[in-house]
Amino acid sequence: MTAPRPQRRVFIKSYGCQMNVYDSERMADVLAPLGYALSESPDTADLVVLNTCHIREKATEKVYSELGRIKAIKRERAAAGERMIIAVAGCVAQAEGAEIMRRQPAVDFVVGPQSYHRLPELIARAHRGVDELLAADFTPHEKFDALPSARGATGVTAFLSVQEGCDKFCTFCVVPYTRGAEYSRPSDAIEAEARTLTRGGVREITLLGQNVNAYQNDRGGGLAALIRRLAAIPGLARIRYTTSHPRDMDDALIAAHGEVSALMPYLHLPVQSGSDRILRAMNRGHTAESYLRLIERVRAARPDIALSGDFIVGFPGEREADFAATLALIREVSYAGAFSFKYSRRPGTPAAAMASRVDEAEKDERLVRLQALLEDQRRAFNAATVGRSAPVLFEKRGRHPGQIIGRSPYLQAVHCAGPDSLIGQIESIAITAASHNSLAGERRVMETA
Ligand code: SAH
Ligand code: SF4
Ligand code: F3S
Repeated sequence: MTAPRPQRRVFIKSYGCQMNVYDSERMADVLAPLGYALSESPDTADLVVLNTCHIREKATEKVYSELGRIKAIKRERAAAGERMIIAVAGCVAQAEGAEIMRRQPAVDFVVGPQSYHRLPELIARAHRGVDELLAADFTPHEKFDALPSARGATGVTAFLSVQEGCDKFCTFCVVPYTRGAEYSRPSDAIEAEARTLTRGGVREITLLGQNVNAYQNDRGGGLAALIRRLAAIPGLARIRYTTSHPRDMDDALIAAHGEVSALMPYLHLPVQSGSDRILRAMNRGHTAESYLRLIERVRAARPDIALSGDFIVGFPGEREADFAATLALIREVSYAGAFSFKYSRRPGTPAAAMASRVDEAEKDERLVRLQALLEDQRRAFNAATVGRSAPVLFEKRGRHPGQIIGRSPYLQAVHCAGPDSLIGQIESIAITAASHNSLAGERRVMETA
């Protein structure tokens, strides 16, 4: 027998979108063969990886304050004669890697989102004391080819990145600069990964991409064909995908919503604004009207589909009338969920140079009004489920003894009394109560002894 490798510990913290969550899991997969086990806290970690987000100014600033805290731990560890390596990954790493090394010298290396397969080499070099390590190439094919295909057992649900990058260049957004051009993974590799996940007990997969519905299928047929292929995998009960751009919602994908039962009736389709003047300034490539017609077509294919969206208030030049148009669009669509943000000026993006900035107080006020409306819609959507039943995929134990938690097709969290053996199973649950962010339910068929 060979001696086990010395156990090392890595603490990985994810900020930002689900693609970062996926990437963090893959980084853990890359590090496992080097003897790194996951640690719940940075205090005892030999390696700390911050997987960062650059989307808004606040997200970026968070990283620097977290680095300050981790640096203090690194110092204490050094005083005890122990070495801790600090790595910054993700979109801030890509956007301002050199700046990070300058502002926080305790950082050992910086690694952009498409260079995670280089982690072992970067760690080895950091141990040798090589300074100024920065890996930030745009090589998504190398990343996906080089990451290990076997994935550690996850749980009932999993993310699977199928597409990366963005060619849309919305004028407010950093993603085209941090993640590079649109790249689609080969469909065979995706199917193989989905099968591995499903064999490991995963019942629901969310396909990820910054523009997931722009997925270029090497076998033809776009994202719709990929979804149909994955739907044939035994044991895979539910498929979702996020995030989509209205411009890439093609007929085949809309048709799939009506025809593929594993495809969940919940679509995240960001619109950002309801004002055509602002949409043009944002370079969104759609109008409020074309978005509404698109939703009509999706609803014709799948009448019970629910929508969620992303909204930005206070984009440069946004007047009260533009904001009112956004509220009007929200009333017309009626969203089951949404994310909304104050416009954040990102240096280097076209909007950063635009005149007539909206002042902060005005942005705050608009955000409050927008969120109040969205919150009403969400509450009404949840309340409408009470007295009905919903198929719930159970994911984990709840906080209370004997309680389990799952999700409805609409991603609503459902709490229910039930045995652990239901975890990983779908059961029709009678919904008895709704709060703004979860539902309570009861099993209709009680187990007989
Ligand atoms: N690719 C996705 C979204 C990526 S970013 C899409 O096109 O929808 C997620 C959300 O962050 C965006 O939808 C947008 O609402 C918000 N966002 C992006 N840049 C922003 C900025 N500079 N200020 C405020 N919100 C922003
Ligand atoms: Fe950003 Fe627009 Fe691309 Fe979405 S589509 S990632 S908002 S540039
Ligand atoms: Fe943030 Fe990068 Fe995702 S900027 S939202 S982590 S793509």
